[in-house]
Amino acid sequence: MKRVGILTSGGDAPGMNAAIRAVTRTAIYNGMEVIGFRRGYEGLLEGDVIPLSVSSVGGIVHRGGTMLRTARCERFTKPEGVREGLQRLKEYDMDALVVIGGDGSFRGAYELHKLGFPVVGIPGTIDNDIAGTDCTIGFDTACNTALQCIEKLRDTASSHERLFLVEVMGRNAGFLALEAAVAAGAEFALVPEVPFDMDVLCKKLHYAKERGKSHSLIIVAEGVMQASELQALLKDTGGYDARITVLGHIQRGGSPSSFDAVLASRLGGGAIDALVRGEFGVMVGRINGEIVTNPIQISWEQKKSLDAGMMALVEILGI
Ligand code: F6P
Repeated sequence: MKRVGILTSGGDAPGMNAAIRAVTRTAIYNGMEVIGFRRGYEGLLEGDVIPLSVSSVGGIVHRGGTMLRTARCERFTKPEGVREGLQRLKEYDMDALVVIGGDGSFRGAYELHKLGFPVVGIPGTIDNDIAGTDCTIGFDTACNTALQCIEKLRDTASSHERLFLVEVMGRNAGFLALEAAVAAGAEFALVPEVPFDMDVLCKKLHYAKERGKSHSLIIVAEGVMQASELQALLKDTGGYDARITVLGHIQRGGSPSSFDAVLASRLGGGAIDALVRGEFGVMVGRINGEIVTNPIQISWEQKKSLDAGMMALVEILGI
């Protein structure tokens, strides 16, 4: 194992830079050379490369985004694209590839692995929707960003005695919505994993009002519906006049929290440790505080479940 490639792929997430730094410096510590492919698999196919050194990854541990840039590469979802990628890796004399991203990015890595090329995945996405790790890189920071925004909205909601709907990201998962709802003390969390009934929601809102609640916050995961759709439904079903805020890509930016910077550093180091041990086709994760590896397919074959207790807690605490 002499030359290792690294790329970030899919949506950016705070902490990706810390992971790039950790992979690079741990690899160099182990006597390897490191090459960065820019713009994810797109850069691999186009030969957009940058050699990485101890100093070129300096001063990035605290920076949001990814210095290697990222992309969602349609071409790499096709067998021809993967074969072309393998060809490029051979041209660059690569011995292994470290992929930082979500399950879509890991599928591409898995295809390379099936063709016999050594890969290791590092889970980086604000969605936290990857089994094999308690937390993905960027999730904690995104939760904190959402929390800050929701706290500001609560000021206005309470001053005006209004109902606010806050749409958060998460794709098809409700981890971000649930975490932010509990942290912000929101009255309701609507997540894709738990079906909800509009009439019941309206009854609960009504009941809350009767008990003297002047304002309410509903956190809705984008995987459930758009906040604007929910706004219309609440108007039609319960006559509610709700204001909406879509947090959008603001949730992906910013410096990583201490938790994410540490997680990214540990997973980056863990990815190189896996390669040194000769473990290929795996993803690194952190489970109960330990750095572990699992077959990379776990990221889409196993569904990570939402904590039912947390869901119940929103109801109990939001009374
Ligand atoms: O996977 C991260 C994520 O931010 C999701 O939460 C969201 O659905 C999606 O990416 C948005 O993707 P894009 O930035 O390509 O619009």
